[in-house]
Amino acid sequence: MNALCSRIKESVNRPVVMIGLMGAGKTRLGGMLAKALSLPFADSDKEIERASNLTVSEIFEKLGEPRFREMEEKVLTRLLSNGPCVIATGGGAVMNERTAQKIWDEAISIWLNADIDVLVRRCGRNNKRPLLAGANRADMLKSLMDVRGAVYGRADITVDTSGPDTEATFQTLLQSLANHLGVRESL
Ligand code: S3P
Repeated sequence: MNALCSRIKESVNRPVVMIGLMGAGKTRLGGMLAKALSLPFADSDKEIERASNLTVSEIFEKLGEPRFREMEEKVLTRLLSNGPCVIATGGGAVMNERTAQKIWDEAISIWLNADIDVLVRRCGRNNKRPLLAGANRADMLKSLMDVRGAVYGRADITVDTSGPDTEATFQTLLQSLANHLGVRESL
């Protein structure tokens, strides 16, 4: 582990939580952060799928979005109580006020923000995201950003993930986290 990462790790005393729209890179960059800091990583969508034995799409279809948000709250409450770790949330997690409050109170939150056209491209055409199924993806992501942008903006840290170079974006994220924690790379 390099010097910056070990100093960040020494200072991280709570979960680091990735928030932001679908396609922003929460799972990818969250996984990279966990690996760089040797911290456990969890993805709330995957945890919900494991606990329910259903896919996210099946939960939306069979049980409805409100029930999914309850399951998400339960899973995130558990993950947040695990001490230092990295958590990738689903894009709508912070739209449940109780879940959001727990994240603001108990975690270091990082909003991964990106241009809508980049998100549209990254979300591809797969049908794993029920909110985009059958919708115009650009229109849907734009309207979700209109509704959610102010909430995402409450995060402790914001990182623009629009660029094509994931490693460069990751270095920016690492530096932003170090700045937030008041960590400097030792000389
Ligand atoms: C959602 C985002 C998805 C998933 C569900 C709802 C949302 O997660 O939780 O489809 O409301 O934005 P990702 O952001 O990981 O795609």
